[in-house]
Amino acid sequence: MAVQINAQTAPRGGNGRPAILAEELAKSFGDVRALDGIHVQAQPGTILGMLGPNGAGKTTAVRIFTTLLRPDGGRAEVAGFDVVRDAVQLRGAIGLAGQYAAIDETLTGRENLELVGVLYHLGKYSGGMRRRLDLAASLVGRPTVLFLDEPTTGLDPRGRFGLWEVIREIVSDGTTLLLTTQYMEEAEQLAHRISVIDLGRVIAEGTADELKDQVGGEILEFRVADRSRLADAVGEVFACGIGAPQADNETGIVRIPVGGQGSGILATVATRLANASIDVTDLAFHRPSLDDVFLALTGHAAEEAEEENADGKRGRKRGKRGEG
Ligand SMILES: Nc1ncnc2c1ncn2[C@@H]1O[C@H](COP(=O)(O)OP(=O)(O)O)[C@@H](O)[C@H]1O
Ligand SMILES: [Mg+2]
Repeated sequence: MAVQINAQTAPRGGNGRPAILAEELAKSFGDVRALDGIHVQAQPGTILGMLGPNGAGKTTAVRIFTTLLRPDGGRAEVAGFDVVRDAVQLRGAIGLAGQYAAIDETLTGRENLELVGVLYHLGKYSGGMRRRLDLAASLVGRPTVLFLDEPTTGLDPRGRFGLWEVIREIVSDGTTLLLTTQYMEEAEQLAHRISVIDLGRVIAEGTADELKDQVGGEILEFRVADRSRLADAVGEVFACGIGAPQADNETGIVRIPVGGQGSGILATVATRLANASIDVTDLAFHRPSLDDVFLALTGHAAEEAEEENADGKRGRKRGKRGEG
């Protein structure tokens, strides 16, 4: 994607300070504690993924980082600027695109409105195209730190992969990026470090690999050929792992958390199933996915089905009302 960006550059990172920092950051809306004291940080030139389900507090955090909303507890800084004290300077160093980034709130290069002007005619464009334009607008003024709030939510896989490429290109020159997402794969593909958030708190933090290590060990998986034997299969292997097996009725896949027990358990499981005359395919070890991580940490899945309206508005059940 060719984006002409203006050349008035802010100095980039390099002084040892994190480019994005939040400490004990808190924000409530009435009774809703949208952010309950989060800590996050991103080193200059890296991508920080904030991964969490709808309502986790991601947009609230982005709005605070970009000075659209004031925190009511803790502190945050971006590019060395405090979000409250140094709001004006901070705005000169950032770009924002995403879920609710109203175009007239684009914070950098307000003077470069020709590009932004294009964005007022969003109706003409497909979801992916509109998202790219939104991204282009966020680059006006050449931000040091870029915030992309669920940039690919609602896009089909092709649009998503396309946007990932664009994002990689954008950050390849040393821009720091905070990316929020509900998609495990997106965090895994793009982020150097991931902060997993749920209900306004950071519940885990690390690289994708570190997060997987927290879940502990591996998962033994197999597929039961005859679905009517699925329950029998689960019964046979119930005590083999370090936790209860999970069975998927649709796919016939059974997953057993096995920790670090090694390959011995493979033989045990195969023997038990064979003795019970249950045919299985695809018997193999897997490293846990980020989905497994999220499920283990929160007891629920991170991704939620979401519809995009016919007119392309990104509709949300929660967190939709604008404030500030
Ligand atoms: N302006 C607002 N007024 C009232 N409640 C809000 C507002 N913005 C967000 N919330 C609530 O704060 C919580 C976090 O919302 P949000 O930051 O939008 O989460 P996410 O972006 O992770 O989906 C949700 O429970 C949401 O309903
Ligand atoms: Mg959001």
